[in-house]
Amino acid sequence: MKALVLSSSPRRDGNSARLANAVAIGLTANGHEAETVYLTDVVGAFLKDCRQCRREDGTCSIDDGYRSLFLDRFLAADGIVAATPVYWYGMAAQLKAFFDRMFCYVAASYPQSEEVKRRMQGKRIGLLLSSEETYPTLFTGIVHQLQEYSRYTHSTFVGVVHGQGNARGEVERDPRDPIAQARQFGRDFFTTCYTDYQIDTPRPSRVWEDASTP
Ligand SMILES: Cc1cc2nc3c(=O)[nH]c(=O)nc-3n(C[C@H](O)[C@H](O)[C@H](O)COP(=O)(O)O)c2cc1C
Repeated sequence: MKALVLSSSPRRDGNSARLANAVAIGLTANGHEAETVYLTDVVGAFLKDCRQCRREDGTCSIDDGYRSLFLDRFLAADGIVAATPVYWYGMAAQLKAFFDRMFCYVAASYPQSEEVKRRMQGKRIGLLLSSEETYPTLFTGIVHQLQEYSRYTHSTFVGVVHGQGNARGEVERDPRDPIAQARQFGRDFFTTCYTDYQIDTPRPSRVWEDASTP
């Protein structure tokens, strides 16, 4: 399988970059392809008013690397792992802009929008977070956005790894060892058990097969 890892902190040697690196190591260790992209290299602008900057042929005129990242790498990937620092209890603007600018290709005025919408569906989605604080609801807003995005695109939100740290690389000293967690997360990313039941979902009474229990 093919994974795209989006590292969205402007600090290339920072905490989310280290988590992103660890997840990529885990993915490749399990035979998957993993490409890491630093969003600050690629996303050079926010979403604009499409009526003003869409070209006559329907394509987006914002001249940075987003078009190729989105069309050639994002749509081609089976799974996406987004790494972001917690900024003001939300995601980094680089990652938000990555999501916002999908609009240019999903909007009906983009000639291939139907194909884009089809190819946006059914991906696995993962989230890597780093923050200075620790309290449990600190990143709820980010998780919620990813969950809603996943629901909307018929994707599968596999899970979250969180590391605590503030100075560059400090996440490596978090005693919960989020780097090892991210590596394992990468290894299991495409295979881990995922369930999201509704009241009428037929299901077995046990979660894990165990021949020894009746
Ligand atoms: C603009 C800004 C806003 C931040 N807001 C928060 C916050 O709301 N809560 C928090 O715990 N840490 C906050 N932090 C700290 C970062 O989340 C933390 O330093 C993180 O590890 C940085 O990740 P990086 O090394 O990948 O850049 C903020 C840092 C910056 C620069």
